[in-house]
Amino acid sequence: MKVLLLAVMVLLVTAADGIEPSQCIAPMGMETGAIKDEDITASSSFEHGNVGPHHGRLRNELDGGAWCPQSAATPDLKEWIQIDLHTVHMITATETQGRFGNGKGMEFAEAYVLEYWRPRLLNKWIRYRNRTGAEVLKGNINTYLESKTVLDPPIWASKIKFLPLSHHERTVCMRVEIYGCRWTDGIVSYSMPQGDKRGTSWEFYDTSYDGHWDGEKLQYGLGQLTDGRVAPDDFKATFYQTNSQQGWVGWKNDTRKNKPIEIVFEFDKVREFTAVHIYSNNQFTKDVQVFSQARVLFSVGGKRYKGEPITFDYIEDRIWETPRNVSIRLHHRVGRFVKVQLQFAARWLMISEVTFDSSVVNGNFTEEEEEEQEEQSSQKDEIAAAGADNKNVVSAVNTPSGLGQYLGVIVGVLSVLVVLMVAVVVFVVIQQRRYKSSPRPSQVPGGCDKAALYREPSMGRLPGSSDYADVRDPEYAVPLQPPQTPRAPPPLHNFLPKPPPVPPPPERYYAATEICNSGFVPPPPPLSTPPPVRLSRQPRYVSNTRTYVGP
Ligand SMILES: *[C@@H]1O[C@H](CO)[C@@H](O)[C@H](O)[C@H]1NC(C)=O
Ligand SMILES: *[C@@H]1O[C@H](CO)[C@@H](O)[C@H](O)[C@H]1NC(C)=O
Ligand SMILES: *[C@@H]1O[C@H](CO)[C@@H](O)[C@H](O)[C@H]1NC(C)=O
Ligand SMILES: *[C@@H]1O[C@H](CO)[C@@H](O)[C@H](O)[C@H]1NC(C)=O
Repeated sequence: MKVLLLAVMVLLVTAADGIEPSQCIAPMGMETGAIKDEDITASSSFEHGNVGPHHGRLRNELDGGAWCPQSAATPDLKEWIQIDLHTVHMITATETQGRFGNGKGMEFAEAYVLEYWRPRLLNKWIRYRNRTGAEVLKGNINTYLESKTVLDPPIWASKIKFLPLSHHERTVCMRVEIYGCRWTDGIVSYSMPQGDKRGTSWEFYDTSYDGHWDGEKLQYGLGQLTDGRVAPDDFKATFYQTNSQQGWVGWKNDTRKNKPIEIVFEFDKVREFTAVHIYSNNQFTKDVQVFSQARVLFSVGGKRYKGEPITFDYIEDRIWETPRNVSIRLHHRVGRFVKVQLQFAARWLMISEVTFDSSVVNGNFTEEEEEEQEEQSSQKDEIAAAGADNKNVVSAVNTPSGLGQYLGVIVGVLSVLVVLMVAVVVFVVIQQRRYKSSPRPSQVPGGCDKAALYREPSMGRLPGSSDYADVRDPEYAVPLQPPQTPRAPPPLHNFLPKPPPVPPPPERYYAATEICNSGFVPPPPPLSTPPPVRLSRQPRYVSNTRTYVGP
């Protein structure tokens, strides 16, 4: 029981919320060493021991004092230094420095390009482009000054490469750092139709989407819906300000034949979802309104969406035009893919951010094929399928993230205990009533073995309670039964190690006498319940510490 409660507490602490990009700015450990040497690799190095990739750490001066590739930098981008973060991180800034080498260094990169890799993102390296479409980032101007660049949009990646660039051949050396945090939201991609144009000049496209766009559908990437930045209240403002195409992704109902917009989110692991928040525009005077209905479906393998969809109806608001964060409760549904279908309420539907509240479930979840097999076998043999289901539940309970299942087990155990307690109380009350209505004897009848009624304190243990059924404590394990008939006292004292040497008290009346006469069952000692544990939510984890970084 205690173990379970503790597990729930641990679980609440680790439950992840959305990421605040403004807090996701911690150095990720090139300078401090939190990123291990073996996770830093390079295309080549001039001399591994002195200027190998492990020396490419910002503000470090060991040995040669930087990473230096074998060949000079050219516009071809042949050389690179790579950092492996193992899991997806949100990288919000980069910083570079040249080789100072105690004043002897002369090499630095005036410009560089970033490439990144993320699981399931087209299985290739993606060249980073910032919001205005620039690929080349500004590097250093001497061997010692750092140059930091805030990445807008940020990069979601598990590996990142710096490629020094020079328009004329030039020897370069680099020291680098990256800033960001672990991507606990767990979204690895979303797929949806690309946004629409409004008139001739306004494009409500997902401009920062980094996946595949086949002209209609966006696939495998991340973009504006997850970048942690909300669009301005007035969708037109995004087009008046130069340099900020960011903002709303919008769809028009006539091009969709009024069918819902479907967005499929893929997550890193099977997760349990408590809510989704959709930041939506509601400028109804300009034909934009929050969706009228949202349907949310869940799948483990991504092909079949099992179970009833969660349906959410939005009551239309034609009073306030401000955007709103519409929250939909997801009732601890489990999956690795979440499909959201948004129904038009007006000609335009515009959203800017979608965030999920979820936590990882470490169960042994079968992939799609096995799921289908299970389905088939369940048609033939329902018992087998039930067994498989049970296995899933059990494995989820054994891991520290199945919040729903844990609560279920706890509630179950608690209610069994409550029922037991109620039964005991009722039993005691009935027995006492019976005893009160019977005439009180004044004499101790012969043959009543009073010693049998005394017993050692039992420390509040309730014999027979399933929780303690396997407690084998020789001192307390003998359940005491009062004699059923005074004529035939059970030889209990033979079993008791030491019948207490209590002399018969002088009073005419004492409790044991009455108990003997009425066949009263001694009330069980108070049931010990575990101390109430306060399950308080811990302060949200601010994920900009170094402990998050690296393997
Ligand atoms: C994109 O990069 C270019 C060149 O480094 C820079 O001038 C521009 O301000 C950047 N844009 C954004 C939105 O960061
Ligand atoms: C929407 O609300 C949720 C929960 O309060 C929050 O986590 C999320 O950051 C909000 N999103 C936006 C875009 O404000
Ligand atoms: C699109 O929405 C407008 C306004 O709600 C409506 O008049 C129109 O019929 C809708 N178009 C389609 C194709 O459903
Ligand atoms: C998950 O279950 C399958 C089939 O029962 C088994 O082969 C596999 O080893 C299990 N994986 C883990 C991590 O328990």
